[in-house]
Amino acid sequence: MLSGQPATCMAGDDDSIRSGRALFATPTLLGGQAAKAGLSCASCHINGRDNVHFLLAGVSAAPGTADVTNSFFSAARGNARFDPVVIPDLAKPGKVSRDPGARALEIFIRNLIVEEFGGQEPTPATLDTLAAYVRAIRPCPGEQRVVRRLNDQLAAIADGAAAVRLMAGRGDPRGMRLAIASMRHQLGLVAERYAGPGFARDRRALLAASRELRAIGDIAVPGQAGLALDRWKRGFDAGPARRLRGAEARSLYDGRRLDRALR
Ligand code: HEC
Repeated sequence: MLSGQPATCMAGDDDSIRSGRALFATPTLLGGQAAKAGLSCASCHINGRDNVHFLLAGVSAAPGTADVTNSFFSAARGNARFDPVVIPDLAKPGKVSRDPGARALEIFIRNLIVEEFGGQEPTPATLDTLAAYVRAIRPCPGEQRVVRRLNDQLAAIADGAAAVRLMAGRGDPRGMRLAIASMRHQLGLVAERYAGPGFARDRRALLAASRELRAIGDIAVPGQAGLALDRWKRGFDAGPARRLRGAEARSLYDGRRLDRALR
């Protein structure tokens, strides 16, 4: 049986925090090798916490550790030493100040993306929202663990849509494309759980929805893209999302089915 994931209780839920949460789970935020391996911030910090199972050859020593100054991620920063450390739980106070006045968190995240992971320079709105999210991460009472449900992915898609609107409002096309990538990534995660011939129609619908999103990302005028996104979201909620909810018990979101499939 999978042990579940650390639950997170957020200190807030405004559009900035939600947008940051969407980008945090998007592989294309990180560059090069990390993005190619499908890694996002959330791969190591699940729900903003830690990941005791994280294990990547050449990056981890024991499960739950990573060397983020490894040349695997960035030729520029690799320190040529293999020195993995335990992945910290971002809900707990750490070595980086969360004080919004100090902006140490923004500088740390920027360096992480650009220097450690070889990603593109994040736009100001991208950095603001990521920092807002990290500052809002809190543990839940009783430290409960949760299993992944379709609703987690649907909520992440809604977060991504909030991020598209926020980026459109800030006139940030690159941030907008990243937000669209976050939504498409989540659609892919849903498709993985609806495996098998019985779900062929649902997977086709997910693929079509993802292609529509890609086209919206190509719309040059942010305001128009925002409107197209709203239309897409209404259609998605009324169509594919509804059918997926109806079939969730037969999908690999069901713990026993997932266990069997992974055996
Ligand atoms: C490959 C796994 C991995 C990925 C991906 C990753 N981190 Fe981390 N993160 C770590 C490790 C390991 C540390 C501890 C580094 C240290 O102590 O020098 C860390 C430290 C941090 C800290 C400092 C916590 C403190 O002590 O105050 C923050 C904030 C953070 N990460 C945010 C992020 C964000 C944002 C992203 C995505 C841009 C990200 N991480 C991606 C593994 C990862």
